[in-house]
Amino acid sequence: MGFSVTPWEVKGEVDYDRLIKEFGVEKINEEVLNSLKKHTKDIHFMLRRKVFFAHRDLKFILNEYEKGNKFYLYTGRAPSGPVHIGHLLPWIFTKWLQDKFDVELWFQFPDEEKFLFKDNLTFDDTEKYLQENMLDVIALGFDPKKTKFLIDTKNSNIMYKEACKVAKKITFSQVKSSFGLNEQSNIGEIFYTSMQTVPAFLPSVLKNKKIPCLIPHAVDQDPHFRLTRDILPKLGHYKPASIQCVFLPPLTGIHGKMSASDESSAIYTTDSPEVITKKINKYAFSGGQATIEEHRKKGGNPDIDVSYQWLRMFFEPDDKKLEKIYNDYKSGKLLTGELKAILIEKVTSFLKEHQKKRELAKKQVSKFLI
Ligand code: TRP
Repeated sequence: MGFSVTPWEVKGEVDYDRLIKEFGVEKINEEVLNSLKKHTKDIHFMLRRKVFFAHRDLKFILNEYEKGNKFYLYTGRAPSGPVHIGHLLPWIFTKWLQDKFDVELWFQFPDEEKFLFKDNLTFDDTEKYLQENMLDVIALGFDPKKTKFLIDTKNSNIMYKEACKVAKKITFSQVKSSFGLNEQSNIGEIFYTSMQTVPAFLPSVLKNKKIPCLIPHAVDQDPHFRLTRDILPKLGHYKPASIQCVFLPPLTGIHGKMSASDESSAIYTTDSPEVITKKINKYAFSGGQATIEEHRKKGGNPDIDVSYQWLRMFFEPDDKKLEKIYNDYKSGKLLTGELKAILIEKVTSFLKEHQKKRELAKKQVSKFLI
């Protein structure tokens, strides 16, 4: 079956092994995990379970770190709608990295990106989503002393010159082939990748010394950073390293990626317990059998069951508990309704906490701005 992954669209059944070859990224293997573990002591379950599955130059980052040359983290979010739990996944992992390595995080909000790429999104819309989305990031507990929000239209005074230096090194034909853009694309779209490159070296410019950069991101953003890695050495900077995750599947099916514009595919961070319960019961794609009798006899298939996959990728960090759920579902002991009830409980209690912290975040925003 065919599939395609670009920063703007994910289609079909993604074959991550093929993607590793096509993109030219490296698999996260035992050796890399062991080098990480020297510093982090434990290994995050998202690494153990290959939710974060690929990287570029992670060994370089760790070597430099061991020499006392600390890296910083860079990730981002283009404000274009409400945040859903699929967005939170890489950010939670980023927070873990920040804590383990005690490093700075530069979080980019390219508030022009989706304005340029979507037909009906105004700057009033992006401003509203920017304010909302910042709360979700803050709610995850990033340290304001070590975390900076870079907002493209507000911080253009420090970004624009650097973006132009990048843009001067990229040709139209490179952008066309990297992103599937064409002669009809608007010229803002063509320029945009230069802005997403800037945070991969801006701290080095501002502090006037070469600082390694590690970018945790979902694998669809790799085309941007492949270009970035070509260009930065030409500007006298390190190539950024990256650590890349798969997509949290939409509620409605095991393939593709959760979409903020499709209500039935996503659970938003602001959903109430009633809405969470209803969405999971109604939409969560199930690997169970058609009837209880059949399920007891043949068992379910956790590998294609969205509720199970959400537990594996996000909501059940305990390996033993997860294994029991896997086995019980597979044997038919655990019914689909019961599996969904486990997930509903987890999501509800996670989001209840998140929503509390999101409220408190309203008073904190200014601490993160540059
Ligand atoms: N392009 C990303 C989006 O669509 C936003 C983004 C900007 C980003 N810089 C990043 C994502 C760095 C991951 C890493 O939301």
